[in-house]
Amino acid sequence: MNILILGSGGREHALAWAVMQNPKCDKLIVAPGNAGIAQIADCAAFDIEDGGAVANFAEENAIDFVIIGPEAPLAAGVADRLREAGLLVFGPSEAAAKLEASKSFTKEICDAANAPTAAYGHFTDAEAAKAHVRQHGAPTVVKADGLAAGKGVIIAMSEAEAIDAIDDMFGGAFGGAGAEVVIEEFMEGEEASLFVLVDGENVLAIGSAQDHKRVGEGDTGPNTGGMGAYSPAPVLSAEIEARAMEEIVKPTMKVMAERGMPYQGVLYAGLMIKDGQPRLVEYNVRFGDPECQVLMMRLGAQALDLMQAAAEGRLGEAQVNWADDHAITVVMAAAGYPGSYEKGSEIKGLDTLPEDSSNMVFHAGTKAEDGKVLAVGGRVLNVTARGDTLQEARDRAYAMVDGVDWPQGFFRRDIGWRALK
Ligand code: AMP
Ligand code: GLY
Repeated sequence: MNILILGSGGREHALAWAVMQNPKCDKLIVAPGNAGIAQIADCAAFDIEDGGAVANFAEENAIDFVIIGPEAPLAAGVADRLREAGLLVFGPSEAAAKLEASKSFTKEICDAANAPTAAYGHFTDAEAAKAHVRQHGAPTVVKADGLAAGKGVIIAMSEAEAIDAIDDMFGGAFGGAGAEVVIEEFMEGEEASLFVLVDGENVLAIGSAQDHKRVGEGDTGPNTGGMGAYSPAPVLSAEIEARAMEEIVKPTMKVMAERGMPYQGVLYAGLMIKDGQPRLVEYNVRFGDPECQVLMMRLGAQALDLMQAAAEGRLGEAQVNWADDHAITVVMAAAGYPGSYEKGSEIKGLDTLPEDSSNMVFHAGTKAEDGKVLAVGGRVLNVTARGDTLQEARDRAYAMVDGVDWPQGFFRRDIGWRALK
């Protein structure tokens, strides 16, 4: 099978790494890829948000299966164009990708599915939004409706903060994403993510994870795309996972199918858990990054079989072969991230690190130049390890981190603290 993966981050390196281990994979191309991906697969450069360009490339290269990593091509309808061209694709249609691309769409689907989530109002007018805040009080959560690279959510501890956030959003701080604003009840509890494969009809849970969104140790400082993650998430016990599947995931997938937008791909359910009750915080229509890295480390080669079964509508007969293991990933980022940071510093020592089924450094923002590996992104490396216990996985990951010679980088020493406390 010839496989094309779209994307360039640590998520796509981890997907490529798992796919390559499966003997079904004859040839793997990743577009655009990065320096780490180039060590295990061919990389190609074209516009991955242009469905026509992706379809042409796939046809010219005799691709049998396309796996779409990030949300932008999904929201741009790339999966639809590829299916029209008769290609097998892993990833939802543009219509179904609205579960991530529009928060008010998701809230409305959850209402129709009776899925537990935060109470909300949605507004296209600042005065009405402010009136809602004055009526319901703080804390409250103000969200830009559209895709805002993870930055369009303001947790407002006071009414004044919420009003400022409303002014910012309608003032264009998040561009078109803020033309509509959702205001939600603030939910308390512990957050965890559940990853579910969906083939339009059948669902299959493939693992849970918790990430660390804040840049600083002890969960302090500004939000990031994620500074580390581990799987499984202890808070998502078998009972709570079953409730999340029965009360949230299955009913919303049923509503999507009934409305003529069957969902196919991976569904990332961000959950808030309190007193044994999971409630939906958000859906994403792709694997999390860096959550994918720990999931792929645990699933290995079977990840390809499972994604193929989802794409072919055969999930009803699929099952996950679980090892009783734990995985963790530590993100190494460029100094200054998530603010401005320098590009081009050299990373040394990577060739001294182990690479096997329990140890892997996935590249997120790197480029190869003259035989050197250069940092070219904010989040640069995802140092990932597996073990029989989370502590063992964590010790392995930090031993690798300590072997990376990159003075311009930084990382959190406390990834996994919540699960180990
Ligand atoms: P989202 O982009 O919707 O995932 O929001 C980003 C983060 O904001 C989530 O991961 C939560 O930590 C937090 N958050 C979002 N909505 C709520 C809510 N209704 N109550 C509490 N925290 C929330
Ligand atoms: N790590 C969070 C995300 O991928 O959305």
